[in-house]
Amino acid sequence: MFRTHTCGELRLSNSGQQTTLSGWVQRTRKMGGMTFVDIRDRYGITQLVFNQDVNANLWEQANRLGREYVIQVTGTVAERSSKNVNMETGDVEILVSQLQVLNESLTPPFTIEENTDGGDDIRMKYRYLDLRRTNVRENLELRHRITFETRRYLDQMNFLEVETPILIGSTPEGARDFVVPSRMNPGEFYALPQSPQLFKQLLMVSGFDRYFQIAKCFRDEDLRADRQPEFTQIDCEMSFVDQEDVLNLFEGMMKHLFKFVKDIDFAEAFPRMTWHEAMRLYGSDKPDIRFGMEFVELKKEVSGHDFVVFDSVPYVAGICATGCAAYTRKQLDELTDFVKKPQIGAKGLVYIRCEADGTFKSSVDKFYSNNDLKIIAAKFNAKQGDLILILAGAKIKTQKALCELRLEVGARLGLRDKNIFKPLWVIDFPLFEWDEETQRYYATHHPFTSPNLDDVPLLDSNPGDVRATAYDMVINGVELGGGSIRIHDSKLQNRMFELLGFTPEKAQAQFGFLMSAFKYGAPPHGGLAFGLDRLVSLFAGLDTIRDCMAFPKNNSGRDIMIDAPSVIDQSQLDELNLVVNIKPAK
Ligand code: AMO
Repeated sequence: MFRTHTCGELRLSNSGQQTTLSGWVQRTRKMGGMTFVDIRDRYGITQLVFNQDVNANLWEQANRLGREYVIQVTGTVAERSSKNVNMETGDVEILVSQLQVLNESLTPPFTIEENTDGGDDIRMKYRYLDLRRTNVRENLELRHRITFETRRYLDQMNFLEVETPILIGSTPEGARDFVVPSRMNPGEFYALPQSPQLFKQLLMVSGFDRYFQIAKCFRDEDLRADRQPEFTQIDCEMSFVDQEDVLNLFEGMMKHLFKFVKDIDFAEAFPRMTWHEAMRLYGSDKPDIRFGMEFVELKKEVSGHDFVVFDSVPYVAGICATGCAAYTRKQLDELTDFVKKPQIGAKGLVYIRCEADGTFKSSVDKFYSNNDLKIIAAKFNAKQGDLILILAGAKIKTQKALCELRLEVGARLGLRDKNIFKPLWVIDFPLFEWDEETQRYYATHHPFTSPNLDDVPLLDSNPGDVRATAYDMVINGVELGGGSIRIHDSKLQNRMFELLGFTPEKAQAQFGFLMSAFKYGAPPHGGLAFGLDRLVSLFAGLDTIRDCMAFPKNNSGRDIMIDAPSVIDQSQLDELNLVVNIKPAK
């Protein structure tokens, strides 16, 4: 038997018992004729004691142990004279009578501790060692708990877990596909699924009624802290439902997860906000509502004062930072530099300080009297001591920039507490997005999203105003999941394809199987998908989803541990009938 207990299990009540433990050497401390070794496994750490006076041979053997050696020890559980309150097993130690080295280890390239000395690249290269660290392991334990509770909830709700294929054709989720050449079909390629979207709709046609899958998805898009090329969705679909049914069921799932994973109760219904309102008040379709600081539009109030910056643009809006009037010149300069960063793209930042004496001080005093500024401040309900920050420009671009500024100021003011969770549903997304460059409409979600049936007449006259029956769940500014009620009527679906610029032939070639299936009695259906990685990192308070994935890719999409992607043999290329057109980088 390798062990009688785990390394996190023994307590004072076990004193006097014989025990056998197996695990890794965390560290060794030699103090005169006594050597203390911490042995670690997934469950915790236990202190081992080797005493020269009791067994000199064993003590010498212990002194030769290196970090991360795998050992097995047998000994007696004893009460510690100096207890360690920071360790769960800190009341006891093992007086070792037998020691066996099960495997030696090279000295690891970084220390396996909570705050390791390993930089990102080195940790990822040796990810199997990084995963020995408690905080990383805890993230994966949390991930397990979330998937387990997800399955439990959905099973209770009659959902069936069905796997769908990974080698498929293109799915229309808006990103680039990863493709896989087919040896048996020369010149042809599979695409990896961006999501199981089409299959889950087909399962509804098959009568499965309630489907879910913890599904791997693949998207070749630019990576960010909350995006990986390969990620996991909790993917769901239901038949005979309207939007209200879907929102209620999945609000229930989120409440279940909060309750059983984080012990947080949400008594109230999640608030709902239309996409228009979210954009107007927060400049974002995923607003962080842990704090207010809502946008106030000012075009009317600021126009006609000879301030060309405001007069020459269609959109002027600001936020009010409570209690920030005392910001120094340096702090204001920092905020100005922040909004001017290329990725934010504002030209400048106008501020108004609401002084303690009731007067106003601003960067545009030349153009606005104290009374003008007072009128503006009143629109924000600003109080003495507050700071108003204003941006101007093209509407959407400025809304996005002001959104970033709001989040930055919110963070500086400590208003984005990771232990507070503020969920909401964003609903009534526009069905289409107009793209200036290509001069055509794109589906905001995907082409199978149903328009709000009240807006169907607008499809011909004003497609840009048509609302989708689509919804996103947002928590703390993170888009956790989204979905829609689908079109189940082939005539309406064909009209959508037309509006999206698909010729009937192209629609047939890409989605013919779905259109055919819809001719055999497609039930009304809808669903959504949650990003599991985002959910886990939100629950864990992480800054990037990488930290809750066992083997993530880096920012260039590389797995530096297994060195992928990599060049393949000429023989493999030949077999696949592929010719590579560029010289390999190495
Ligand atoms: P959508 O594209 O909105 O919808 O994706 C659903 C959720 O998946 C997560 N997500 C990602 N997570 C990590 N890395 C990525 N690259 C990434 N891309 C998306 C997000 C997102 O909210 N088939 C539809 C769902 C439906 O209509 O039912 C879909 O995939 O959390």
